[in-house]
Amino acid sequence: MLPINTSPTPYVLANRFRFWYINSIGFILPAPMANIKFFSGKTTPIEMHRVRIIQKLNLRPIDQRLEAIQQAGNNTFLLKNDDVFLDMLTDSGVNAMSNDQLAAMSQADDSYAGSATFYRLEKALQHVFGMQYFLPAHQGRACEHILAKVFVKPGQVVPMNYHFTTSKAHITVLGGEILEIPGKEAFEMTSDCPFKGNLDLDALKKVIAERGKDGIAYVRMEAGTNLIGGQPFSLENLQAVSKICRANGIPLVHDISLLSDNLYFCKQREAMCKNMSIHEIALAMASASDIVYFSGRKLGAARGGGICTNSRDDYLAIRELVPLYEGFLTYGGMSVREMEALAVGMIETLDEDVISQGPQFIEFMTNELVNIQVPVVTPPGGLGCHLNARDFLPHVPQTQYTAGALASALYIISGVRGMERGTLSEQRNEDGTEPLAHMELVRLALPRRVFTMSQIVYTVDRLNWLYQNRNLVGGLQWRDEPKILRFFYGILEPIGDWQQKLVAKFKSDFGESL
Ligand code: F0G
Repeated sequence: MLPINTSPTPYVLANRFRFWYINSIGFILPAPMANIKFFSGKTTPIEMHRVRIIQKLNLRPIDQRLEAIQQAGNNTFLLKNDDVFLDMLTDSGVNAMSNDQLAAMSQADDSYAGSATFYRLEKALQHVFGMQYFLPAHQGRACEHILAKVFVKPGQVVPMNYHFTTSKAHITVLGGEILEIPGKEAFEMTSDCPFKGNLDLDALKKVIAERGKDGIAYVRMEAGTNLIGGQPFSLENLQAVSKICRANGIPLVHDISLLSDNLYFCKQREAMCKNMSIHEIALAMASASDIVYFSGRKLGAARGGGICTNSRDDYLAIRELVPLYEGFLTYGGMSVREMEALAVGMIETLDEDVISQGPQFIEFMTNELVNIQVPVVTPPGGLGCHLNARDFLPHVPQTQYTAGALASALYIISGVRGMERGTLSEQRNEDGTEPLAHMELVRLALPRRVFTMSQIVYTVDRLNWLYQNRNLVGGLQWRDEPKILRFFYGILEPIGDWQQKLVAKFKSDFGESL
């Protein structure tokens, strides 16, 4: 298992570890990615794993699906998973683990302080990112909470390529503000830009000139930028941002929750990364950052989270808050079993076969939808396939939560659970006005190694039908609107009886079919 104490000669391991070899410091590393050409000339993503544990799924009849979404207040977060066929809500904490991760869980050392499990995880992270210090936390937003407490003072700004809901909430709740300065391509729904997650360097220089070092808490870069469709930034852009930050004495905090997708895209799309290994790209990204933090529910296909840095001062400042909010420094709110799985998952992230499965399935699904003219975000990103709700339902205004309505309609006609990522996911302004989201998306997350190709084909088929029948779909309005992170548990209702009409049309087209 990992790390391994054997003489450090590189060799290919037989059988169980046939995709791995041991490098000079004693870690098992992946062998280069498989290269498979098809005789037919078609390219189809091929899973470099097999399924050995399964979970039975339910596909309820459409009347029951209608009832379920009504009881859930048209909020897919409030659906019971038993009522869901394909759960594409998120990739958080639901990625399939490897047999090595499961095996590692059984060697967990359950001690409050000084657990051997912690040192294994610390060693794995030091290896992957080349950073000396590791501070554990129970998940990604816990890292954001602590980082905001340490760095953000009222009135300060945090420039970033784009916000994530929880990262924004932790900054603003402390009186800070966020400033999103991605390149202009970020908001173009259909584009050829390979790196829509890049930060606009001129805009960064401008905000530094205006606000000064003291007016800026830190600069935040988010790998695999979630809310604009899982879009990556380039290594070149990150390094340029880092140079500007370092010249001005401003910390660069890097959210690496979706790093695995970003690493894959850099390797695929960026000339300077072509001849770099995934590990070399990861190391280059970490060395450009002052602090990296992650949700282990995404990165590492496990659960938990953590913060890594090479700065002793930052380590000491953050360390004060970990026992207060998370738990003792050698577990930080995580169970030792998940820490073991995370340690193995982090090393597996360096395997191109492992990290390519998600983006390749997403690309396949996105291209299938493009072929039948269903509006989606392009180029395909990581995390999931993103429907462009405003083009899908141009007759439903954003004030009626276009993407929320589309997510509700899709569940009714397919049992597929997506997530609204648009105006509903925004927060109402202090004065009660509603900020309309830049992008009105329904995210169909493809948790890594979870879905089969036929399940993707089914989803594409139902989306095709829904798009042909889009005029039947109407908007939503609030029945109960929470003040903070309202998308999690807000209750909405349809405007009019469009849901009944949609069900009637489905039955007339599909008869008895589920
Ligand atoms: N940063 C990013 C980029 C994320 O995508 C998430 C979570 C977090 C931070 C917070 O991490 O959930 O472990 O507290 N994203 C999930 C999602 C919730 O569904 O996209 P967490």
